[in-house]
Amino acid sequence: MSASGETTGRLSPHVLEIRDLVKTYRLSSQVIHALRGVSFSVRAGELVAIMGASGSGKSTLLHLAGGLDVPDSGSVFIEGRDITTLSDRQRTLFRRRRMGIIFQAYNLLPTLTARENIAIPLLVDGESNSVIRQRVSEMLAMVHLEERADHRPQAMSGGEQQRVAIARALLNDPAVILADEPTGNLDSVNAVEIWMLLRRLAHDMHKTVLMVTHEPAAASYADRTFVLKDGCLVGTLEDVEPGNAALVARRYTELVG
Ligand SMILES: Nc1ncnc2c1ncn2[C@@H]1O[C@H](COP(=O)(O)OP(=O)(O)OP(=O)(O)O)[C@@H](O)[C@H]1O
Ligand SMILES: [Mg+2]
Repeated sequence: MSASGETTGRLSPHVLEIRDLVKTYRLSSQVIHALRGVSFSVRAGELVAIMGASGSGKSTLLHLAGGLDVPDSGSVFIEGRDITTLSDRQRTLFRRRRMGIIFQAYNLLPTLTARENIAIPLLVDGESNSVIRQRVSEMLAMVHLEERADHRPQAMSGGEQQRVAIARALLNDPAVILADEPTGNLDSVNAVEIWMLLRRLAHDMHKTVLMVTHEPAAASYADRTFVLKDGCLVGTLEDVEPGNAALVARRYTELVG
């Protein structure tokens, strides 16, 4: 695949476009420049990683991309629509319909089974039981968890719980998947499974996937990796073979110094 995420002769559209995002936090007398003008675009079918040290602005960027927060200035275009101009309510609705967000903590409800946890977004939308059953079964199959459908979170491994969270995020068939350190709580075997799943969502299902990480191994699975330092993009890593964490680590160190 080329650097632009192109798999055929024709370029896929830029589904996610981040333009000149600035975000500053003010805590009493302290001013924190979390993002200092960040721009990039991600095409359908691409898995892009954002890599940077703790405090470099990765989660801030993901929150703005997902409409969970608003920037001081700059734009976030999703499928051509600038979500920073929407009202809070419109943005929440847009997020529910068009975006799937995955966090390090799986955020599953402990009293519900895998099947019930996955169904939540469609229950919120008031969808019919038969449609919900069908969609949830499809999602369970996609993350290979049919046999854990009736397990509650405490009866599943961390990797399985994260796959439930991913299935839930996919339920509304979002254009964009955002993941913030999705494997932060997992061992390396489970982590690889999640990275391969995110790759599959991009390459096979033509989703636009943005994953935040500080791990070179995670970034090695991405088609491109944008390196963030002190709220600025300082470079791009590409053409890395999945699993070649050493190459990512070396190029990353060269970039951030
Ligand atoms: N709500 C907030 N109020 C004030 N400062 C914040 C807030 N959220 C983040 N920050 C600050 O903004 C900077 C960027 O934070 P952010 O959470 O985006 O970093 P990160 O790259 O995700 O780090 P980590 O790898 O530790 O998760 C940090 O200095 C952080 O302390
Ligand atoms: Mg973070």
